[in-house]
Amino acid sequence: MSNAVELPRGWPDTPPLLISERLTLRAFRQQDASAIHKLFSSPQTARMASSIPVPFHPHAANGWISCRSGYFARGQGISWAVVESSSGLTIGDIGLFVRTGHENWEIGYAIMEEFAGNGYATEASRTVMQWGASTLGFRTVTAGHFADNPASGRVLQKTGFVPTGESQMWYSLARGEKSLGLSYIWTADDTTAPSRQSAS
Ligand SMILES: CC(C)(COP(=O)(O)OP(=O)(O)OC[C@H]1O[C@@H](n2cnc3c(N)ncnc32)[C@H](O)[C@@H]1OP(=O)(O)O)[C@@H](O)C(=O)NCCC(=O)NCCS
Repeated sequence: MSNAVELPRGWPDTPPLLISERLTLRAFRQQDASAIHKLFSSPQTARMASSIPVPFHPHAANGWISCRSGYFARGQGISWAVVESSSGLTIGDIGLFVRTGHENWEIGYAIMEEFAGNGYATEASRTVMQWGASTLGFRTVTAGHFADNPASGRVLQKTGFVPTGESQMWYSLARGEKSLGLSYIWTADDTTAPSRQSAS
């Protein structure tokens, strides 16, 4: 019996370096731990995620980065540090995660509060979606946000996602309870595919 992990089609050896107009998306390093700690130490940011505790201990940032390496090695997810090219600062994270089989994916991201409002999340999400569509050949990508996080919904819509109309109660570790969540989907043959970038 083989213990070999079946990796998704097109899976790279390492998370690829992706360059956009203002951002560099690269593989995480343990040296990013202080940035990840800063990112998720914001209770407001943690509340928008499902599994970030409050308080977020500095050592949890190292564990978070190690988890991302594990997901990648098992073909379960690929994460990038979002680096502002002009400053060289790590300002957030973005990732694609396998949901069911190797056909359905999910996207997630976070940008530090002090860098929000500059279009960075949208630029990063368009970049990874374009890479994923062309390299992994995914057919559908799902996403979701808590109902009290309309900025994330705007990022998704600008990336070509559409609301599914479904809402569910999702648990958030930082909230310590379930809250209303809204679901979105991107499909490869949708006229809102990211290459169109119609919503600006
Ligand atoms: C949500 C988040 C990713 C947005 O990052 P960002 O870099 O500021 O996003 P962008 O600048 O690309 O786009 C934000 C959009 O939301 C809009 N927006 C911001 N606050 C809003 C609000 N309260 N209501 C509606 N729209 C809002 C902005 O105007 C912008 O849209 P526009 O370009 O049409 O004007 C960032 O705030 C974040 O990381 N939050 C915490 C973690 C999180 O929510 N992650 C996603 C989990 S689903």
